[in-house]
Amino acid sequence: MTRKKIRIKKKNFTIFILIIILLITITYKGTNFIIKSVTNKDEKVEKKKKEKNIKRDKRLEELDNIDERISYFNKDYIDRYIDYKNKNKDLKIEDVILHVNIGIDNDYYTNTKKAVNLNKNTILVNKYNYLDKDYEPENLEKISIYYARSGMKLVSEAKSQYEAMAKQAAKEGLKLVATSSYRSYEYQEELYNNYAKRDGKEAADTYSGRPGYSEHQTGLAVDLYNGKELYTEFEKTKEFEWMQKNAHKYGFILRFPKDKEKLTGYEYESWHYRYVGEKIATYIHDNNLCFEEYYTMFIEVFK
Ligand code: DAL
Ligand code: ZN
Repeated sequence: MTRKKIRIKKKNFTIFILIIILLITITYKGTNFIIKSVTNKDEKVEKKKKEKNIKRDKRLEELDNIDERISYFNKDYIDRYIDYKNKNKDLKIEDVILHVNIGIDNDYYTNTKKAVNLNKNTILVNKYNYLDKDYEPENLEKISIYYARSGMKLVSEAKSQYEAMAKQAAKEGLKLVATSSYRSYEYQEELYNNYAKRDGKEAADTYSGRPGYSEHQTGLAVDLYNGKELYTEFEKTKEFEWMQKNAHKYGFILRFPKDKEKLTGYEYESWHYRYVGEKIATYIHDNNLCFEEYYTMFIEVFK
């Protein structure tokens, strides 16, 4: 090989190496640039998320991601949750949501709605959920006079379960007598007006439903006594004790418990029972709930 040829080869080799170095540099820089842009984008998204959270935090920190923890959270009520929490600072957020959903951030008999689940065991009638004047449940049946004052009616399933319960109580030497059960709108109207005349409206509201707002109109509620003591003394009887242990097995719940007066809107009533079916009654019994709480957590559906 001549010297000239060797020099040319060397030159070509140097050019080749330089091109390779150039290519590696370009590839490295390019990759870095792409990685940086993607990371920047992620950082921007993160930053935006944080800003959004800070905005939410300012309103009520505990509401952050609440919908992932509490199935009955309703975003349409967010202002009500915040107002209610501000007025009840010690209340847990779960209870704030529960109370607002029940409606007690508003006065009783305000923001009322037509009751849903008509003719079902899950119907809720209270100071926020009413029945029309002409609502009469389907399948009303008379309760046997062994276990009721004459003419008392309940919805068929509730009636059978009530009779089975009273029969079992009788087997154990106890007496359950239904002293009030289904009441029409007109009957409740008369009752409430008489109470209001006697004790004043404010007092009557603590123990009697206004017409359309009484659960007795559903045909699923029954007031009990033991055939001797006044129904208002039911708490002192053996029959009451028995009901505490057994009512849920037949699908009945104590509807206005002592410690839930604010939620139910009524004074404690040891004599008033409501048929909801065995499964729901057992859950309510075992978890010390009132029906408003159960309904809000498991039955109510938001649109
Ligand atoms: N005593 C109950 C609350 C009613 O009147 O429905
Ligand atoms: Zn009652």
